[in-house]
Amino acid sequence: MKKFLAIAMTAVMVLGVAGCSSSKTEEPKEEEQTEATEGETAEGEVLVMGCSADFPPFESYADDATTIEGFDVDMMNEICSRIGMTLEIKDMNFDSVVAAVQTGKIDVGVSGITITEERKESVNFSDSYFVAAQSILVTKDSPITGYQDLLDGDYTAGVQLGTTGDIMASEKLGDRVSQYEKYGDALAALLADKVDCMILDTGVAEAFAAANDLVVLDETFGTEEDKEYYGIAVAKENTELLDKINAAIADMKAEGFFDELNTKYAG
Ligand code: ARG
Repeated sequence: MKKFLAIAMTAVMVLGVAGCSSSKTEEPKEEEQTEATEGETAEGEVLVMGCSADFPPFESYADDATTIEGFDVDMMNEICSRIGMTLEIKDMNFDSVVAAVQTGKIDVGVSGITITEERKESVNFSDSYFVAAQSILVTKDSPITGYQDLLDGDYTAGVQLGTTGDIMASEKLGDRVSQYEKYGDALAALLADKVDCMILDTGVAEAFAAANDLVVLDETFGTEEDKEYYGIAVAKENTELLDKINAAIADMKAEGFFDELNTKYAG
């Protein structure tokens, strides 16, 4: 996970220490109707976060198979405690997260989402909290040695539908790309030799490699400039929430909270 750490460190600032809270259950509670206003609990209003819980170490299921945990969950629990809200998490396919924010089905999309110009047409993004790139994940005996091999050869690649990995790979490799709704299915395809590699975010590629005895190539998919910045997606009209989230992120960066998270998840 060294690469994960190196990249992560460029995204955050140093100083101080802050605690990090742990995971939350996935169970999307119906909006609670209490004596108070709809959607409020003793700990404040509920903030519904949508994610595709197939993206370790950012969001994935814990061993109990019901709790969603990870970097994004810890970050959102901390943000919620700072802005006086209670976090609820909904698992969905990645390609519906931005639309769900836009239509108000969820309050925030927090799913290792790369800030892109196209997505910015539909939603606003918070300040960036993480920097990533697209990695090439292969089996140990793979003949693929780097990006150029993929461009030149006739190798196939598995991606998650609607991700930046999908967009980049589809642009360069055309119909040699297979799209899967969940990363688990793309990974299963790679392990069963149905695709020759996977194109996905660096930290996540490292996590899958470690758990499945796979290899992340040194060379990333694309060029040095192809860096990606993760942000929290918020509906365009919800500027008050966005401002609160950005203020919390700025404080958390200054207090070293993200350093803690990087250490926790990069090992
Ligand atoms: N960073 C990439 C993107 O924004 C991939 C995110 C996938 N996230 C997930 N939780 N599956 O397109």
